[in-house]
Amino acid sequence: MSKYLIAGNWKMNLLQNEAIKLIEDINFGISSLNLSSVEVLVCPPYTDLHIANEKLINSPIQLGAQNMHFMTKGAYTGEISPAMVIDAGCKYVILGHSERRQYFKEDNEILIKKLKSAFDANINPILCIGETLKERELKETTNVLFNQISILNLFEKENLEKLTIAYEPIWAIGTGINATKEQIEEVHLWINNFVYSHFGLNIKILYGGSMNATNAEEILSTENVSGGLIGGASLKSEQFLSIIQTAISLSQ
Ligand code: 13P
Repeated sequence: MSKYLIAGNWKMNLLQNEAIKLIEDINFGISSLNLSSVEVLVCPPYTDLHIANEKLINSPIQLGAQNMHFMTKGAYTGEISPAMVIDAGCKYVILGHSERRQYFKEDNEILIKKLKSAFDANINPILCIGETLKERELKETTNVLFNQISILNLFEKENLEKLTIAYEPIWAIGTGINATKEQIEEVHLWINNFVYSHFGLNIKILYGGSMNATNAEEILSTENVSGGLIGGASLKSEQFLSIIQTAISLSQ
């Protein structure tokens, strides 16, 4: 298992030509890097996936989707199935991002189904969890995370080996205010303890929320942080490449 996973969540950004340019720039930038200890992932919008996959032939960069439906096929207008995600070249899928929980009412019931279909389809899920600022201020962080992570109890260890968790405090997403090293350390230790004590597993735990080239070293060097899920900074090749470079330096 590589030491770090550096993942870009492009969210609802970049038209096809812009996506091609970004992929080409990242590809060019990493061609001179030693990626033996760092896995790189980009998660473009659905409409950019096929062309991204074409551009990533012979590239070590992996492709992921930002969401998917849990049904295999049928009359679900506007939805994308696990098989479609695989067909577009994805090895990963982000599930339960706070923007989906907030704007599209994704809850534990839906996420259980999505996790199950990801495991069934052999897609590696990245399950996002995180608290609001109010919840943190009310000292509810652990309760909220417990509620979100407890759905894992419904799954077998052999499936959970394929899981990555992303801790994304909602108040840090897109705000320019990342969680402090101490806050990240505390939560990542808690998540690591939960997963290890329940399933005997050490899985990757990413941090997400205003991560950029400047704070990457501090965040990635924190204990139990095995990578980043990066939004805004993953849309700029120099920022994303710099974060990858930081991960490489830290893993040496
Ligand atoms: P930002 O890096 O833009 O804060 O977004 C983080 C995120 O939501 C990644 O999934």
